[in-house]
Amino acid sequence: MTISSAPGKIILFGEHAVVYGRPALAVPVTHVHADVDVSDSARVGIWIDAPDVDLHAELNTLPSDHPIASVINNLFFLLRVSPFPSLNIKINSTIPVASGLGSGAAVTVALTRALSSHLNYSMTDEEINAFAYEIEKLHHGTPSGVDNTVITYARPVYFIKGQRIETFKIGAPFTILIGDTGISALTRESVHDVRRLWLYDKSRWETVFDKVGEISFTARRVIEAGKSEMLGELMNENHALLQKMGVSSPELDKLVEAARAAGATGAKLSGGGRGGNMIALVEKERAPAIAEALMTAGAKRTITTTVG
Ligand code: MEV
Repeated sequence: MTISSAPGKIILFGEHAVVYGRPALAVPVTHVHADVDVSDSARVGIWIDAPDVDLHAELNTLPSDHPIASVINNLFFLLRVSPFPSLNIKINSTIPVASGLGSGAAVTVALTRALSSHLNYSMTDEEINAFAYEIEKLHHGTPSGVDNTVITYARPVYFIKGQRIETFKIGAPFTILIGDTGISALTRESVHDVRRLWLYDKSRWETVFDKVGEISFTARRVIEAGKSEMLGELMNENHALLQKMGVSSPELDKLVEAARAAGATGAKLSGGGRGGNMIALVEKERAPAIAEALMTAGAKRTITTTVG
């Protein structure tokens, strides 16, 4: 039996602008994770059991564009696995689906690691990340690659699409409260809508993306210097720019405002937007009270995580 696990993620700064080459900062969230368990099967076939998405099926009965089938088929093609072995694959995930916490990328990474290692193909993190990016492209159109990268390396990353993946030092730990609107939203759609805006008026949106890029750049310096209290204002500025891009929503704005009113140093949406999650920078001891304020404002759940 081979077991592998991959964490969820949050984008601290730079979502959407990262698709246009500006830097983003993302960190893993280990409180939630996707876990995959691969073992040999006495029955012929590849039997997939993923209770969270109510999937109990043999690989060949799934459509080829099914997210899990496409990982297995593409991986076996890449590794030239032939004939297909008989396997049982169990997938469990505590990462809410379509919420901006990287559930799809985490399943891809954990499944790729578990399968390659069970079949004795050694894959480096770079290879796993490159493969997970190809899978992200199948499902998300034009992703930047930040989600699969932070999840593969399970470390904070400063990411510039196609150029740079740097991990960075956290000068002093800080607390982030994640508030889930409970609304599923497809990243593919918000990314597509931002692209339409950009195609319509490139120079205007390039300026907006530049501002986001500067925020990410400054935030990295601030985090490395251990001055996280300065991140709150940067989060607020980043949220305002995301609102301009049209990727926030009344529910996200309500949670962002509730967090600020309850004493968060700053707050913003995180990930693709429209639904999914927002994040707030909070003092650790105030996290429970602010989490309660988020629940009162309509959050379906909260997660408190320490970065660093
Ligand atoms: C999604 O987590 C982050 C986006 O910037 C999309 C991407 O980078 O691929 C919205």
